[in-house]
Amino acid sequence: MYQVGIFGEKLSHSLSPVFQNVAFKYCQIPALYEVWEFSKDELHERVNLLRKPNSLGANVTIPYKELAYGMVDELDGTAKQIGAINTIVNNSGKLKGYNTDVSGFIRSLKEIASFDPIGKNVLILGAGGAARAAIFGLVNEKVNSITIANRTVDRAVKLINDFGVNQEIFSILSIYDEKISEISLRSDLIINATSVGMKHSSMEFESLLSPDQIPVNCVVYDIVYNPLITPLLKNAQEAGAEIIQGLWMLIFQGVDSFELWTGKSAPVQNMYQKAMEHFKSLG
Ligand code: ATR
Repeated sequence: MYQVGIFGEKLSHSLSPVFQNVAFKYCQIPALYEVWEFSKDELHERVNLLRKPNSLGANVTIPYKELAYGMVDELDGTAKQIGAINTIVNNSGKLKGYNTDVSGFIRSLKEIASFDPIGKNVLILGAGGAARAAIFGLVNEKVNSITIANRTVDRAVKLINDFGVNQEIFSILSIYDEKISEISLRSDLIINATSVGMKHSSMEFESLLSPDQIPVNCVVYDIVYNPLITPLLKNAQEAGAEIIQGLWMLIFQGVDSFELWTGKSAPVQNMYQKAMEHFKSLG
């Protein structure tokens, strides 16, 4: 039996075992995806255990994505660029790190909304970890412009400073700036990468954009996946725009990880269905 799993600190709500184990079963691969929760001082030892012959590798989540980056033998180009990994692949005892948050995000845009990022104008709300992955992917895909709107403007400034080149494609403003309508209305893609709209948060019923701020011929992607349809996505539907649920970002980072571990095509729809069923069972 092959072993694979997820490294993290608080994983009781992780959906990854749910959809990864379905994928292994569907592809008839004798592997078990486990949850590996431990503290920071164990990370090095845990990474080294991945070199065992029956280990496929692991996913890595918060707060270990940056630390694990420095513990593998080799890095994929995107991972090297962003400075964080969420996937480790065991190649006969040699560990290679990847960032499928970035590749999965771009793949979800292409496969779920047939959205080709080249030359497009993007508005992204938020400047945290999720925004960072989306922005790295979009810059590599040669978008025309990216406007970052964040509550804390300085955080957005720090984020774009990490891009040595391509500075000219970025603009920054506060999410409370009135100019946001003007920008949103000429965007091809709007992404919410803030926690606004997240279930059980103080902003659960809020959307940073109203229907009249969303153009009809636009794709709106909310990285928040609980609830499946957030207040922003409801507003986008009301405006007639195309939506992508945040669950797709989670599924596609897993799809890319699965394909790196196994070399087989992941059963995307089965993984999505299983994750949805799990969600519904939680009520
Ligand atoms: P993640 O890794 O999910 O991106 P994060 O790094 O904590 O999480 O980032 C959270 C994002 O949500 C940030 O852009 C944050 O804005 P600040 O940089 O100003 O903190 C944004 N955010 C969180 N709560 C918010 C709120 N109530 N209103 C607006 N933005 C909020």
